[in-house]
Amino acid sequence: MSLDPRAFQRCLSPDCAATYDAGEVLTSCTRCGSLLDVDYEWERVEVPGKLSEFETAWRSRHQPVDFSGVWRFRKLLPFVTDESVVTIGEGQTLFQQADQVARFVGVNAGRFYLQYEGMNPSGSFKDNGMTAAISHARATGATQAACASTGNTSASLALYTGMTPGMKSIIFVGSGKIAYGKLSQALDYGALTLQIAGDFDDAMKRVQEVCQSMRIYLVNSVNPFRLEGQKTIMLRVLEALRWEVPDWIVVPGGNLGNSSAFGKAFIELHRLGLIDRLPRLAIINASGARTLSELVGRRGLSWNGGRYDRRTIDDYYAELDRDHAKASTIASAIEINRPVNLAKCLRALDACDGVVREVSDQLILDAKAQVGAGGYGCEPASAASVAGAKLLVEEGVIGPSDRVVCILTGHLLKDPNVTVAYHSDDQKVFNETLGVRGVRGASFANHAVSVGNDLDQITRAIQLYGH
Ligand code: F0G
Repeated sequence: MSLDPRAFQRCLSPDCAATYDAGEVLTSCTRCGSLLDVDYEWERVEVPGKLSEFETAWRSRHQPVDFSGVWRFRKLLPFVTDESVVTIGEGQTLFQQADQVARFVGVNAGRFYLQYEGMNPSGSFKDNGMTAAISHARATGATQAACASTGNTSASLALYTGMTPGMKSIIFVGSGKIAYGKLSQALDYGALTLQIAGDFDDAMKRVQEVCQSMRIYLVNSVNPFRLEGQKTIMLRVLEALRWEVPDWIVVPGGNLGNSSAFGKAFIELHRLGLIDRLPRLAIINASGARTLSELVGRRGLSWNGGRYDRRTIDDYYAELDRDHAKASTIASAIEINRPVNLAKCLRALDACDGVVREVSDQLILDAKAQVGAGGYGCEPASAASVAGAKLLVEEGVIGPSDRVVCILTGHLLKDPNVTVAYHSDDQKVFNETLGVRGVRGASFANHAVSVGNDLDQITRAIQLYGH
C-alpha cells in the first residue's frame, strides 16, 4: 500500500500555508488549526490535454480503478497508487434531464437536470468520498476508522470497512436523529454503532476528541482526502453535458463537504486550463439548520482571500450556545448547526459566484414529492436542492433558460417514514412524523386507496383513480 509522492497536504490559511506529507493523518493544521487541502505537484502530473480524454478510460473498464466513477478520473486526484485503492464501483450514477421537475421549479424544459447520487452502492453521494478516505486510510496503515454522522456517512463507512479486511469502523450518531434506512445499513454492515445522547454537532465534537486520543482514522469531511473523491461528482456532471459547464450547480448544505469539494474541483479544472469558466453554485440550507445562510446571507461573512472573519462565526456560535439553539429539520441528513467545512465552502462560494438560501421543511417535502413523481425519488435533504432552485427562480436569480443541475444526494429509500407520512391520509401518522416539525400539508400527497379483497371494489377503484 502506498501513496503517490506528487501529493501533499496544505493548510487552507494563506498566512500559514504549512505543508504536510500525504502520509500524515491529520484533520487540521497542527500550526494554526485551519482545515487542510490535498494539493499536488501538478507540473509532475500527466494531466489530460482535454477532459474528453477521460472517456477513453472506459475502454479498460474490466479494471476496477477504471470501472469506478471516482477513480477513472484519478489523474485529477493522484494521491494513492492503484493497488492501494479500495473500490466497489462507486460513482455509477445517473444524470437525467428532468422536464417534469423543471416545470415545478420554473425552468424551461430541456434546461433542468438531476444528478442522482442515490445510485451509489450505499445509496448516497458519500461513497464518492469514502472510497478516497478508506484508500488513504489503508495506505497509511490504519485499522480503525470512525465518523460522526446523520446517517449516510456512517452507512458508507460501514460498507467500505466491511469490505476491507483488517479494517473496523466505529460510528457516532445522535440518538433518535438518524433515519431508519441508514441506521439499518450501519448495523447490517457490522459497524460498532454508538448512539450519543445528543445531536450531530455533539457527536462530531466527541468523535474528533476520540479519534485524536485513540489514534483512530477520522473519515468526516474534515478529512481532506475524502473531499478529493467528491470532486468527481462534478466531473461526471461535466461529462454528461459533453464537457460543457452548466450555469448553475445547486446542492444541499449540511456539513458543507460537497460544496467545498465542488468548488475545489472547478478551481483546479480552471487553473489546469480544462474548463474556460466556472458555474455558479447555489447552496441550500434547511431553515431549521441555517448557519451558512445566516452567516453569509445576513452577517456578510465571505472568503476574503482566506482571511475570513472568524469573529463573526464565533459570535454566532456563542449565540447558539446562549440560546440553547439546536438544529431541527425534517431533512435529518442536514440537521447541522456547526458545519465543519465552513471555511472551504466560503472559498467555493467566492470562486463560483455562489449564493446561499434556506428553504422550509414544507417546501423540501413538496419538492421531494415532485422529484418522486418525476420518476427519480430522493430523501428529504436531497430535495432541498430542488426546493432551493425553485426559490431562486421565483426570486429571478436563476433564469428560466439557465442550464441548472440539482444534486440529489441520497436515495428515496433512506427515509421511508417521512415519505409514507407525507402520502398518508391518516392525520395521526402525518402529525406524529411531520406535524411536529411544523409541516401543515402535503400538496402532492398520493394517498393509498383502501379496498376490500373484492374484485368489484378493486375494479371500481382503478376506474375512479387509475388515470
Ligand atoms: N444530503 C444528504 C443525503 C446527506 O447525507 C448530507 C450529509 C448532505 C446532503 C449534506 O452534505 O455535509 O456535504 O453539506 N450527511 C452527513 C452524514 C452529514 O453524516 O451523512 P454536506
